[in-house]
Amino acid sequence: LPTRRKLVVANWKMNMNVASATSFVERLSITGDTSGKVVICPPFPLIYPLRAMLPDSSISIGAQNVHWEDSGAFTGQVSANLLKELDCKYVLIGHSEVREAGETDGMVNQKVKQSVATGIDPIICVGETHKQREQGKTNEMVKGQILKALSKVDDISNVIIAYVPIWAIGTGLSAEPEQAQVVHHVIRETLHHSFGEIAEQVPILYGGSVNQKNAHSLSEMKDIDGALVGGASLDAENFSTIVHAFE
Ligand code: G3P
Repeated sequence: LPTRRKLVVANWKMNMNVASATSFVERLSITGDTSGKVVICPPFPLIYPLRAMLPDSSISIGAQNVHWEDSGAFTGQVSANLLKELDCKYVLIGHSEVREAGETDGMVNQKVKQSVATGIDPIICVGETHKQREQGKTNEMVKGQILKALSKVDDISNVIIAYVPIWAIGTGLSAEPEQAQVVHHVIRETLHHSFGEIAEQVPILYGGSVNQKNAHSLSEMKDIDGALVGGASLDAENFSTIVHAFE
């Protein structure tokens, strides 16, 4: 089987502007082939200018969300077709901050199907709350989110999963590498049970207070194939260090 691709994804959330994105690109220090594993997910309006700032780079652009319809009366939403036209290669789906705002497992599934059909690779975010972890419900919660997200999806060869425990987001309290590996293994087994051998090819990223200090120890885990980075991705030097940790 070919080796699993690694990805380090910057989720800028509702941060940055044209000036700070320009400065970020100027200060990013990533060598040639390494850039092939880097994805930057800016706010929607920065997708076009950011792509223009990186004309020949193998750094990919991703979106932070997407709608499941092709077009229509969906105020404030963005279609997969338009993202594709703007050279978006990835899209975050099911991030807890979007689920918090009302996105259901059913919507996540519709968005995954629409993204796959459009040729944009979905990065499906799953993860438990602190309470669910304390109640021993982590595995059950994550398995359920995975299976509902992938319901009636036949081909998962372009799917990426991100395990983002909610209690680790923005807290500075990352999961311990071994703790994250346990859940990544459960995700791999869940994919294997439903889809077979292809599960070995699905990158599983960790997200939740990843920074330049913990990135290397996370990268050493068997089933941690990269990172989904929030706060630490806003600083070019810190983000470059995290990217190199996953080389
Ligand atoms: O998208 C992953 C993000 O929610 C993690 O945020 O700031 O804890 O790296 P942060």
